[in-house]
Amino acid sequence: MKIYRFSQIDSTNDFIRKNINKIEIPSIVIAKTQEKGRGRFGRLWASPVGGLYFSLVTEWKGPPLPFIVPVAISDILSGVGVNVSIRWPNDIFFKKKKLGGILIEAASGKMIIGIGINVNNRVENLPEVLREKSISLIEIKEQQYILEEMALKISNKILKLQYSKRENILSRYIKKLEGIGGKCEIQQGTKLIKGTIEGVDINGRLILIVNGKKNIIHSGAVKRLGASRVSTDP
Ligand code: BTN
Repeated sequence: MKIYRFSQIDSTNDFIRKNINKIEIPSIVIAKTQEKGRGRFGRLWASPVGGLYFSLVTEWKGPPLPFIVPVAISDILSGVGVNVSIRWPNDIFFKKKKLGGILIEAASGKMIIGIGINVNNRVENLPEVLREKSISLIEIKEQQYILEEMALKISNKILKLQYSKRENILSRYIKKLEGIGGKCEIQQGTKLIKGTIEGVDINGRLILIVNGKKNIIHSGAVKRLGASRVSTDP
């Protein structure tokens, strides 16, 4: 796997997009900071030094990446003693605080898998609005990690899981999914849908019970989660 390293970049996903026909497959692009790191819904992904920011570009024939990628990250983090949960669709949480995010995009028939994880950066260096809701590995374990090594481990895990069965991955994803049986609010643009999380369907869409009826949610941001039967504690 080829590794492209940058001290600073606009966004690792954008770099791949611009060079999609020149870049070797698979490759990873890793940067110490990003000036225009992107999150889902066109949000900015604050990228202070110390965080892990990388994108893997690959061809993909395996089970859906929105299941694979959070499961791969969770496997690697449990290897360093951190038991994370997944907040639908694929945010990485630790005890109700966001530890990492995933931005999956397609370009020229290839998949760009962008991953941002708070690792050696402290949340006090994030924008104020994010501090309360975020957490980093250094705050959980009081230990520094080698960023490139973590990026490689996660990438290799993703590529390996390509050959796993969809049902197995789905059940591993559901085991880690936060909030099953609990109340939640989904923000879809200006619309707010309140309901109880039943689970996800085979395509990864959220099954939400709203006023006693099943609703299938294709996209949206989980705004608030109430108590549930799933514990996110280790
Ligand atoms: C989210 O939770 O909204 C997804 C965040 C994804 C951030 C990563 S950092 C590396 C890659 N490059 C980007 O511009 N975004 C992703």
